[in-house]
Amino acid sequence: MTGFHQDWLALREPYDHTARDGELAAGLSSWLRADPAVQVMDLGCGTGSNLRYLAPRLPRPQTWHLVDNDSTLTDALARHNGFDAREHHVHLRDLTALHDLPIGSAHVVVASALMDLVSREWFSSLAGRCREAGAALLISLSYDGHMRWQPGLPDDAWIEAQFNAHQRGEKHFGPAMGPTANIVMSGILQDLGYRVTTAATPWVLGPRDGEIQKELLSGIAAACMAMAPQEEDRIACWSDRRGDLIREGHSHLKVGHGDLLALPPGEPT
Ligand SMILES: C[S@@+](CC[C@H](N)C(=O)[O-])C[C@H]1O[C@@H](n2cnc3c(N)ncnc32)[C@H](O)[C@@H]1O
Repeated sequence: MTGFHQDWLALREPYDHTARDGELAAGLSSWLRADPAVQVMDLGCGTGSNLRYLAPRLPRPQTWHLVDNDSTLTDALARHNGFDAREHHVHLRDLTALHDLPIGSAHVVVASALMDLVSREWFSSLAGRCREAGAALLISLSYDGHMRWQPGLPDDAWIEAQFNAHQRGEKHFGPAMGPTANIVMSGILQDLGYRVTTAATPWVLGPRDGEIQKELLSGIAAACMAMAPQEEDRIACWSDRRGDLIREGHSHLKVGHGDLLALPPGEPT
């Protein structure tokens, strides 16, 4: 939501892990038990949040292929406790060029906080490649377009609409799926014969979560300014009031996300 800076990824990681759906991870784990040595490909791995969440929940032995185009993030991942170069292979690549990704050997392709950035066409190609490889997909924490602030302010709905329109903009993969990601991905995967299960995985933030609320507020205001620069005063007024509520310890925020597990047809569950 507010870019890919290392500090932001570190701030959001515990909230992401709390929000994620353990039953979908367990469903993937039992499907993978048929494979003696699990191969996982993590797209847009960042500093390795998905690895840290999933590795303890999946059968061993595991080999991870971690893909990202930002070496500052993958360098941090490689310095992390528990990183083992025999099991964890970093691929520094631009995911917009999907054709040269070695998906063929993966049992499962995973991604967290990525798929709302990509286009329907890009995801469709990815899903087709996964289907050919017989790979499952576990896609986590795609933003679903719902932000509920408490207490409410008159411009909340207007701000949400500007922000959601911004989320649909170009992020180098073609027009982003943004808040429609879970619905669009489910349709594409079901058309390919996948068995798809989804779960709501919102962040539920309260007065103790002031730091992440402040970061979100600043990212949301910047996105709204990009969409409606002529409304600078209106956005600043909303943002100042929200900032006051966060500082005073009165702010609650629910940000909607969804997780999705897709298992190929004809395999044991
Ligand atoms: C919101 S972050 C999520 C990172 C990580 N999956 C997590 O959950 O913390 C999105 C990630 O996608 C990566 N990314 C974005 N565009 C990319 C591209 N074109 N090629 C490769 N990685 C990309 C970013 O560098 C970043 O690490």
